[in-house]
Amino acid sequence: MSVNQTRNWRASVLTLFPEMFPGPLGLSLAGRAMAGGVWSLDAVQIRDFATDKHRSVDDTPFGGGAGMVLRADIVDLAYVSVADERPRVFLTPRGRPFTQADARRFVAGPGVVLLCGRYEGVDQRAIEARDWEEISIGDYVLSGGELAALVFLDACVRLLPGVMGAAESAEEESFSGELLEYPHYTRPAEWQGRGVPGVLLSGDHGAVAAWRQLQAEKITRERRPDLWARYVARPRSKEARAEQTVFANQASVATRATAP
Ligand code: ADE
Repeated sequence: MSVNQTRNWRASVLTLFPEMFPGPLGLSLAGRAMAGGVWSLDAVQIRDFATDKHRSVDDTPFGGGAGMVLRADIVDLAYVSVADERPRVFLTPRGRPFTQADARRFVAGPGVVLLCGRYEGVDQRAIEARDWEEISIGDYVLSGGELAALVFLDACVRLLPGVMGAAESAEEESFSGELLEYPHYTRPAEWQGRGVPGVLLSGDHGAVAAWRQLQAEKITRERRPDLWARYVARPRSKEARAEQTVFANQASVATRATAP
């Protein structure tokens, strides 16, 4: 894809640690895409918008308690320095869980402005005043939003046109559909006494597809009952349901026939 066909998706990150960016996103596929102009990243130092001589950005919480809170006025000044039509995301463990559907939604737009919290949090008025969307990358607490921002951006950027090599590898992987991914194998065909499922060496594309579907279903059922329940309940036509049954039967036959 030539440079003038690319998207030029733009990310701005408001942070007290701009040195953490682009970090890993400057390497590999994301780094190459950034160098090629597919996307850009600017990290904005929130402290540059402090208004006192000590350059302070935080203060003690009203009502008491441990830690410090980022000031609403300073955070908002930092936002205004990059504000445009892009959506705003505040990374916080209090947010809604980040999903593949979110990544797809954000790459469809012009880019994103991310706000990284530190200390105990950000004054809630700054969040409400601009209606920042609050997103968490998982049920654990990081020491700040920066690593969460890197995760968020990686998930988005790899979906931009021209970033991933083989288009279909993004399509097939876990969470693009509703199932976890089937296992992969490559040469050597035997390693430390371990073989490869025979169906994968059979050259029968239909049998391979059926086996992979069965494996994806099995692993999803075992590891992620939440995803499995959603998969089983998904709306399907009568024809699709019948096809699925044939598919699953075919796959179980193929599995029984595998070696070793
Ligand atoms: N900041 C700290 N922990 C976080 C998390 N789990 N997700 C997003 N931002 C965070």
